[in-house]
Amino acid sequence: MKLIGFDTKYAKGFLKEHAAEEIKARVLAAKDTLLSGSGKGSDFLGWVDLPEKYDKEEFARIKKAAAKINQDSEVLIVIGIGGSYLGARAAVSFLESYDRKRATEIIFMGNNISALYVNTVLDQIRDKSLSVNVISKSGTTTEPAIAFRIIKKLMEERYGKEGAASRIYVTTDKARGALKKMAEQEGYECFVVPDDIGGRYSVLSAVGLLPIAASGADIDALMLGAASERAYLLETPYEDNPALQYAAYRNLFYENGKKVEILADFEPFMHYVCEWWKQLFAESEGKDGKGLFTASLDFTTDLHSVGQLVQDGERNLIETVMEVDDTGAAIQVESDADNYDQLNYLAGMDLNYINKKAQEGTRQAHVDGGVPNLVVNIPKRDEFSLGALFYFFEFACGVDGYTLGINPFDQPGVEAYKKNMFHLLGKEGY
Ligand code: PA5
Repeated sequence: MKLIGFDTKYAKGFLKEHAAEEIKARVLAAKDTLLSGSGKGSDFLGWVDLPEKYDKEEFARIKKAAAKINQDSEVLIVIGIGGSYLGARAAVSFLESYDRKRATEIIFMGNNISALYVNTVLDQIRDKSLSVNVISKSGTTTEPAIAFRIIKKLMEERYGKEGAASRIYVTTDKARGALKKMAEQEGYECFVVPDDIGGRYSVLSAVGLLPIAASGADIDALMLGAASERAYLLETPYEDNPALQYAAYRNLFYENGKKVEILADFEPFMHYVCEWWKQLFAESEGKDGKGLFTASLDFTTDLHSVGQLVQDGERNLIETVMEVDDTGAAIQVESDADNYDQLNYLAGMDLNYINKKAQEGTRQAHVDGGVPNLVVNIPKRDEFSLGALFYFFEFACGVDGYTLGINPFDQPGVEAYKKNMFHLLGKEGY
């Protein structure tokens, strides 16, 4: 099956000749640092071999739990934030479609502190049978903890303590934390966030796999896609290696004064893949005063708004465009006898074809306007391609971060707002 493609031909011209060769030694050294575990943050490299070395017993339990959720529940509430949320959300929205039998509806909570959002969810689930998957590595993150307190009470009122316990699934640290303690005391089934995998690299662990499986997706195919991409990226020489090339070009453009990378999609189902990517690269690299700012745009929608700035604004941007070859959907524009809208020139064309032409036209315009374009090609909207895509970005990010000279596996900056918030709310010790 086809893996992730990467094309630099619309970006090369913005760099001096041989730039990619000049940075080769640094990128390969970064790759070695990653694979040998000799760099900063090497305690968090569990994701590197995960597609091959995952816990098969837990994987089977995940599938069993997903089948039970599908049997028990119209809705699975997935509670989590950041790395304990975005991967599952990306996968569920990438894979779900009108013609795909949705096993159980997935509703996400705990990723904000909005009273309106919580009340809206409570209203949506009023008459629905429910299960819950609460996901938090630390077990103490405020947003998901608040959401779980509310949902736990609702579940216990509706199903009784024991009934609720049989519908609540916890994904957390294997031994520590408030959530682990609660799960043990209340008898909830537990899944593990591995010690050596940080939140933003955790989508292929139980963190992502249980919600993804419960949505009806094939998690065997997802892991197979990731494993195939991994094998390819580990073996393929620099010049043809999509992840090493991506890391090289990101660093080259950063060193040439670019400040922002836009990840653009032309399909609404890619929106949360972009959100996941934004966290992966921003939280990995935004430190020591460094890092490209990660932004994302949904085209063609945003071509009618932010497109103006991309075309004509400050030239500090690079754009990485994700193309999907086979979306699994098709619809043609029909001929119309009146042709009031003057669209008969499109008659007989499929929307996929028209979208492709929009992509080509946009790329040409942005390149002409001074925005280097990198292209990531995704063969198909299916689990295999998505697994490959997740791994491609994770591997590229690890190599990219070490090439940049930072620790891609910590996130010291995310604590600052929490301290202030706790102080303002009067939490003891703050
Ligand atoms: O990537 C990260 O480390 C963060 O985004 C965390 O995943 C996020 O803050 C949630 O943390 P936790 O899983 O401990 O609730």
